[in-house]
Amino acid sequence: MQVLTSTAAVQSRVLDLRVSGRSIGLVPTMGALHEGHLSLVRAARRENDVVVVSLFVNPAQFGPTEDLARYPRDLEGDRQKLADEGIDILWSPPVEEVYPSGYQTYVRVEDLETRLDGASRPGHFRGVATVVSKLFHVCVPHRAYFGQKDAAQIAVIRRLVQDLNFPLQVVVCPIIREPDGLAMSSRNAYLSAPDRQAATVLYRSLQTAQSLDDAESIQQSLIATISSEPRAKLDYAAVVDPDTLQPAGQVTRPTLLAVAAWFGGTRLIDNVVVTP
Ligand code: PAJ
Repeated sequence: MQVLTSTAAVQSRVLDLRVSGRSIGLVPTMGALHEGHLSLVRAARRENDVVVVSLFVNPAQFGPTEDLARYPRDLEGDRQKLADEGIDILWSPPVEEVYPSGYQTYVRVEDLETRLDGASRPGHFRGVATVVSKLFHVCVPHRAYFGQKDAAQIAVIRRLVQDLNFPLQVVVCPIIREPDGLAMSSRNAYLSAPDRQAATVLYRSLQTAQSLDDAESIQQSLIATISSEPRAKLDYAAVVDPDTLQPAGQVTRPTLLAVAAWFGGTRLIDNVVVTP
């Protein structure tokens, strides 16, 4: 496994690999790797000659009052996990390498960036779209791997790839969960023991609601289940089209049920897609 920090080093390595006809899979991450991230890495390993993992805690996607400073970091542990998975290139650039002094170019996916997490976290998807565009330009992957866990992020990235003609395939991998159903997340590490227990309400709310067939009753059911947990503070419960993130009506097409709630100072998200 090659560990690279400079953009120029990644660009020249990737160019050599492409010239020699190798297929490249990219897995963008912010580190503190868990089994959710590793499932993406394994899918990339199966489907490509070369696997590149980027590890960058992207300041542009954190709001001024969010958890950038305390976001979990474990470069040594992550490096070991990725070496064990047999990846080829780990790219962990310093912040100045991605956003050098004078940086001023941002990518906005205008409507989608305002929906779901974008409504609760203004500027978040502008930061995601910008950094992901840069990762795509530098790594020039044939395939890029993302988790269904971040359903609104998937919608933003699919739209971005289509609108800006990135010549790559977006591969979406299923949500990896703890045995009690909680979706794995780097932020689960912040939870107190009682909040960790309470957080199982998110997946329970989705399981309970997913058999209903109109958006209004699904949303009411999601809200009722989450509100029944006193430690949870609901952020949103949305029933939407998975591509446009606009409100759905009857479940006559694949429909995204997405929830977000606060447990103490930690905001968690989860979702399921139901098909009629
Ligand atoms: P991060 O939160 O580190 O997640 C990296 C990737 O792992 C994302 O595609 C995310 O959806 C996926 N992932 C996280 N938890 C998962 C789980 N339990 N099951 C399956 N996949 C999971 O998402 C980001 O970083 C950033 O926004 C990024 C795309 C890297 C841009 O900075």
